[in-house]
Amino acid sequence: MPERPLDSLNQPDPNQDSTLRPSLFSEFTGQEKLKERLEIAVQASQQRSDVLDHVLLNGPPGLGKTTLANIIARSVGANLRATSGPTIEKAGDLAGLLTNLESGDVLFIDEIHRMQKNIEEYLYPAMEDFMLDIIIDQGPNARSVRINLPKFTLVGATTRSGLLSSPLLSRFPIRERLDYYSADQLKHIVARSAGLLRVDCNLEGALEIARRSRGTPRIANNLLRRVRDYTQVRHDGRITREIADQGLSMLEIDQNGLDDMDKRILEAIIVRFDGGPVGIHSLAVTVGEESDTLEEVYEPYLIMAGYLKRTPQGRRVTLSTYETLGYPPPKK
Ligand SMILES: Nc1ncnc2c1ncn2[C@@H]1O[C@H](COP(=O)(O)OP(=O)(O)OP(=O)(O)O)[C@@H](O)[C@H]1O
Ligand SMILES: [Mg+2]
Repeated sequence: MPERPLDSLNQPDPNQDSTLRPSLFSEFTGQEKLKERLEIAVQASQQRSDVLDHVLLNGPPGLGKTTLANIIARSVGANLRATSGPTIEKAGDLAGLLTNLESGDVLFIDEIHRMQKNIEEYLYPAMEDFMLDIIIDQGPNARSVRINLPKFTLVGATTRSGLLSSPLLSRFPIRERLDYYSADQLKHIVARSAGLLRVDCNLEGALEIARRSRGTPRIANNLLRRVRDYTQVRHDGRITREIADQGLSMLEIDQNGLDDMDKRILEAIIVRFDGGPVGIHSLAVTVGEESDTLEEVYEPYLIMAGYLKRTPQGRRVTLSTYETLGYPPPKK
């Protein structure tokens, strides 16, 4: 059987994602503190009949940034205009988006860290003063025109807030980081999704899927669909703990929810660096990834799940990492 990286289970699928995407704060599981702060900001802006302040959502893929942007737009009763950093190629594209907004609209810019810096600068006055200064014409006829924009809320999403310039960062009054979900929270998400998909899945079955989903709702939903297919074809269509385990084992989904990159990182520390400590840059070179990506996308989960520790001397694996990956524990 060809190797299929678990990572492929964390790719957004717009058609499937939308069925399961919660559309209200009350349906959104977990991230309690963040949710409370956002709800207060939404309510306060409503009471003042003002637009909501700009919001930056930061966190690894599949944790609910796009979902939250939709929930925010809905709870302020506004339209959501969605775009993404890389698709805004010219200043004119951004001007087009901004001038088409209606008062109170939510403009969602996904992957905002991938927006070109020269375009980003047009956003500053737009965010701060709801104004746009654009240059029209070229050569001797070139002149700058100031356009007043309707008041809007910018919701930016990023997996790599470290790549955001500080002027942009500082223009977001509300900045929130999403955390990985506990197995218990994911269990509720799986159970809810099973209900929406009309799959008979008991709580133990949901927990087994949750445990192996790398703390990530998108992966949990994808694994649920795979196990549903498995039981539909090989069993009676119901998902129990045993069926979930069989289905996931057949798919070669890791018992602990680690993906290929996670394992590469941990194995590199064990095999090449004797368990650590190792500096982030040496580690990055060894696994062939950028150190920012390691720090922002991979490490948070490994640390949360207890496989990795950050020490002043560098990264170390823990004793349980040896056990999980099947290496003999270190002698010292
Ligand atoms: N808190 C949650 N409760 C229930 N379902 C959730 C939650 N968060 C995310 N999901 C589910 O996970 C899917 C992925 O979430 P979403 O698309 O919002 O992630 P994202 O953070 O925008 O990821 P990316 O960085 O890849 O764009 C959603 O379709 C939704 O069904
Ligand atoms: Mg998204």
